[in-house]
Amino acid sequence: MAASPGSAPISSTSSVASPDARPRRLIYGRRLGPRLSPRRRRLLEERLPQLRLDLDSAEWAQIDPRALFPGAQAFELEIGFGGGEHLLWQAERHPEHGFIGVEPYLGGVAKLLAGLEARGLNNVRIVVDDARLLLPRLPTASLARIYVLFPDPWPKRRHHKRRIVNRETVAEFARLLHPGGELRLATDDPDYARWMLAAVLAEPRFCWLAESARDWREQPEDWPETRYEAKARRAGRRPVFLRLVRQAVEGEADP
Ligand SMILES: C[S@@+](CC[C@H](N)C(=O)[O-])C[C@H]1O[C@@H](n2cnc3c(N)ncnc32)[C@H](O)[C@@H]1O
Repeated sequence: MAASPGSAPISSTSSVASPDARPRRLIYGRRLGPRLSPRRRRLLEERLPQLRLDLDSAEWAQIDPRALFPGAQAFELEIGFGGGEHLLWQAERHPEHGFIGVEPYLGGVAKLLAGLEARGLNNVRIVVDDARLLLPRLPTASLARIYVLFPDPWPKRRHHKRRIVNRETVAEFARLLHPGGELRLATDDPDYARWMLAAVLAEPRFCWLAESARDWREQPEDWPETRYEAKARRAGRRPVFLRLVRQAVEGEADP
């Protein structure tokens, strides 16, 4: 699947790297991180522009996955892919699917690019931005899967509004998934787990797949461990895995 030419090169001094330069963004925290190796810098400068969907460009005001990945059988979205371990794993096992990964942290984007290059994968496109700006640009019922794995928990009550999984984004996930599609969530924060569950159970278009505690306590087979998850386990925290199926509801209009 060919990648179309993208936008301008990225550097540590570009506006993308500066949280202050984009006050309308809803991202919090660092976007560049430690110094990059020459290889990763080259990937950001040369490869990223070919794979990036730049939300500031009018070209990407609307994003149709079918046009991004001609011939692909299904489309998947990972929000906050971090170092890209899970995204690479899925993309490698499903070359017939097209993947969009969203991650504002350039160090993670560079790592994903290195993994894509090493594996010769051509079925991933990248958004270096806030996922909440991407969601409304995608067509209704266009996705087979959405992953939000170990999103920042924002434990303080006054920061809960920053949580990426909330009732509004869950409604967007339901709009984007086609019936039979799946939303996968994970967290190691018990309060966020309850919060996530409340949000998805309040959404009638989602059905929680768990039948017993094993289903949310144990890692499903096709769900590889991420870097953040490994860190949580080393610290003695137990992750929770939630799988929700998008179900058709009565009276819902066809997309
Ligand atoms: C705790 S890390 C988990 C990373 C990865 N999923 C893992 O399990 O290793 C949360 C990630 O979400 C990203 N993130 C935070 N806010 C985001 C947003 N609004 N849109 C997309 N990604 C976001 C962060 O940059 C970070 O990489």
